[in-house]
Amino acid sequence: MTKFIGLIGYPIKHSVSPYFQQAALDSYHLDIRYEAWETSPEKLEAVVTGLREPRNLGANVTVPYKEAVLPLLDEVDDLAGLIGAVNTIVKRDNRLLGFNTDAHGFLEGLRQEGHFDPEGKRVVVLGAGGAARAVCFALVREKVSSLIIINRTPVRAETLAETLRSYIGDSSPSLYSGLRPAGSEGLSTEVITLPGQNLSSGETFTHCHLIVNCTSVGMKHSPQESKSPFDIEVIPPGVLVYDLVYNPYPTRLLELAGKAGANILGGLAMLVYQGAASFELWTGKKAPVDIMLDKARKVLIGGKR
Ligand code: ATR
Repeated sequence: MTKFIGLIGYPIKHSVSPYFQQAALDSYHLDIRYEAWETSPEKLEAVVTGLREPRNLGANVTVPYKEAVLPLLDEVDDLAGLIGAVNTIVKRDNRLLGFNTDAHGFLEGLRQEGHFDPEGKRVVVLGAGGAARAVCFALVREKVSSLIIINRTPVRAETLAETLRSYIGDSSPSLYSGLRPAGSEGLSTEVITLPGQNLSSGETFTHCHLIVNCTSVGMKHSPQESKSPFDIEVIPPGVLVYDLVYNPYPTRLLELAGKAGANILGGLAMLVYQGAASFELWTGKKAPVDIMLDKARKVLIGGKR
């Protein structure tokens, strides 16, 4: 019997995941179809419940449901619980388990394609939504020395910073180590928030090694498609600018960063590496990352969507 994996989101007509996931499944000759299941809000519960049907193996979850699916699942893994978002559902013994592979995808992209080791580095993160939460937890767990979070809506940045600080604080020596959140031992990142106006000041970025754009500014098909979250004058040469926006490539931000003498990394790496981790959770097989990257690049360049 053919099995199915779905992509649950709304809207998802521009998604690249069905192409590179199917290429990965086909490379193993698996009788599995990866399908885009565009799901309106009132159908979300029924679609997630439908995953219990024998033909379904699981799903990816994307905007805007990464938070909304949590209460619909039987179990949520520690990291997904901390981030508060699930992007991968796996059915095991008819139980629906939720994972977050975005944090892993972000780090793998950073290491494999950006050749960047985050430990001890100073980082500026733009945004405070679901993607920023995954990125910030990933960076704190990798022991960056400082993290500046800047968001259009400052209260969201402060809420995220508080969550991170209490996670880090829980890692200080305690008699009750059994109560610590998983994997939080020995963390010490300094977490700071700044208002959006600071994006126009070079001081914000002085001494930083990595800038990550987790906002949707610059995204294709959005009103900000040709915009950059900040100007060329504030970008220090030699910094790595990682834009999670993968379409278009390069984004306006990456164009400016390149001109400023910075190193640049687009969001395709994160997209493919999070998908590779999901593939391994569903199939138990090693993800053919090269095939997935190649397919994703071809689809984007070819503009097939
Ligand atoms: P995701 O799950 O992709 O992170 P999200 O939770 O909707 O999506 O978060 C989108 C992020 O992009 C937020 O940080 C948002 O800022 P606000 O918290 O102020 O909404 C940011 N963002 C979206 N459009 C923006 C714009 N035009 N200028 C600046 N930031 C923007």
